[in-house]
Amino acid sequence: MELDKMDIGISGKDRAKVVDVFEVALATSYHLYLKVQNAHWNVVSSHFQSYHLLFQSIYEELAEAVDETAERIRALGGYPLGSFKSFLAKSLLKDEEKARKSDKEFLLHMIEDHQKLIVFLRSHLKGVEEVSDGASSDFINKRLMVSEKVAWQIRAHLG
Ligand SMILES: [Fe+2]
Repeated sequence: MELDKMDIGISGKDRAKVVDVFEVALATSYHLYLKVQNAHWNVVSSHFQSYHLLFQSIYEELAEAVDETAERIRALGGYPLGSFKSFLAKSLLKDEEKARKSDKEFLLHMIEDHQKLIVFLRSHLKGVEEVSDGASSDFINKRLMVSEKVAWQIRAHLG
């Protein structure tokens, strides 16, 4: 992958390593955005309004995360991916074509998907810190804080 030439005190090789992590985070967050929005559209439940609004707040947060992740990639000199094909190849999530699910299935899958993203980000935190990219590790910590909060909110809806 070709990165912009620049000097921010992190070598091109190290910047490329961090960009690799963010490419997976970007693709996974975009994929999750689609899956959560699909749940917002398709959920059928006696608690419809509550789920409908919860899912909307989650996908809106993910839309922001997607944008900020792509912009962090640019700040590191990389060029974010932007096609369904490339996102699917990098995403950590299982793609699902089944549109109709029970409300419980939507919640359980959403927890599982958030957990995959959380575990992935945490597993790369040390590596990002090791190349002195404090801004990226701050960003990862911020993503972890929000994703862990969202995972708790979904779990709390399971009753
Ligand atoms: Fe809507």
